[in-house]
Amino acid sequence: MDLTSSLESLIPALEASLRQTASLDELDEIQVAFLGRKGSLARLMGCLPELPAAERPAFGRIANTVKERLTALVEERRRHLVEEREQSYLARFDPSLPGRAPWQGTLHPITLVMEEICDVFQAMGFEVASGPEVETDFYNFEALNFPPDHPARDMQDTLFVAEGVVLRTHTSPIQIRAMLERARPPVAVIAPGKVYRRDSDLTHTPMFHQIEGLLVDTRVTFAELRGTLTMFARQVFGSDVAVRFRPSFFPFTEPSVEVDISCILCAGEGQNADGSACRVCKGTGWLEILGAGMVDPNVFSAVGYDPESCSGFAFGLGVERVAMLKYGITDLRMFFENDLRFLTQFA
Ligand code: PHE
Repeated sequence: MDLTSSLESLIPALEASLRQTASLDELDEIQVAFLGRKGSLARLMGCLPELPAAERPAFGRIANTVKERLTALVEERRRHLVEEREQSYLARFDPSLPGRAPWQGTLHPITLVMEEICDVFQAMGFEVASGPEVETDFYNFEALNFPPDHPARDMQDTLFVAEGVVLRTHTSPIQIRAMLERARPPVAVIAPGKVYRRDSDLTHTPMFHQIEGLLVDTRVTFAELRGTLTMFARQVFGSDVAVRFRPSFFPFTEPSVEVDISCILCAGEGQNADGSACRVCKGTGWLEILGAGMVDPNVFSAVGYDPESCSGFAFGLGVERVAMLKYGITDLRMFFENDLRFLTQFA
């Protein structure tokens, strides 16, 4: 066979090979065998110098035509194989299957309520402050005017870490720290955080969350305390909620009050439409949600503020209690069991 026929015979040879090529990998190999730098075409073209000079241009033209044809054949086969692969993927893909959404966590209901309450007070100008959960007796009790024999200072009620070191029983120590840091009024802080008490039953857990607030200035009055808490209650529980104060006692406030809001289930009626007693307020029409009062002069003295020239109010609430009322949750333990069926309802 002369060189030209050998060249032309590459075309049917390639066609025959391609007919048997089932995969793209095989196709790559065949492409190299025919068109590669050491492939059949290149080998034949290497014979060019052996030809008489007059025949070389014609041979070169044929060689180029053959090369174009071979390349086209390979590419055509490649398109076909790619298409086939695509089809086989599609055959295995069921577009009617429901998609798998990535699992997304949600904020814990306690976190949500804490954030909501903090937002309400921040909008009124209070700053959010924080402090350590392990506190000394000074910040947790002494500066807050607890007498040495107060029951809260007893091992029965408080979790002691060491002599004179406790897990804070309320977030009030943050208020002492805030006053000391600022050195003089005005002070307007809210203190959210975890607190610890030696309590564990249906309605108490050894750790729970509190938000306390403190406003100190030169002429803060009881009326402002009432206005602030009424505003808070209406924002969190609804605009027609009523607020009432009952006399109470805390070592760090004088006078002290318990703050109730009108029951959010029976709207303060104390009973349901059918005359039966409301189960949320137990027929009283009121729900206790806060402790509050005017800052005791002894607390000001403990932080070096002049009790004659400044006054202030403080309040504290349990976040779990607010969350239970807000969402109608009846079992405190649900907050701590981390059952996803419960938690994902607050997304
Ligand atoms: N610290 C009190 C408690 O833990 C709550 C409170 C704060 C009461 C501020 C009055 C004023 O129960």
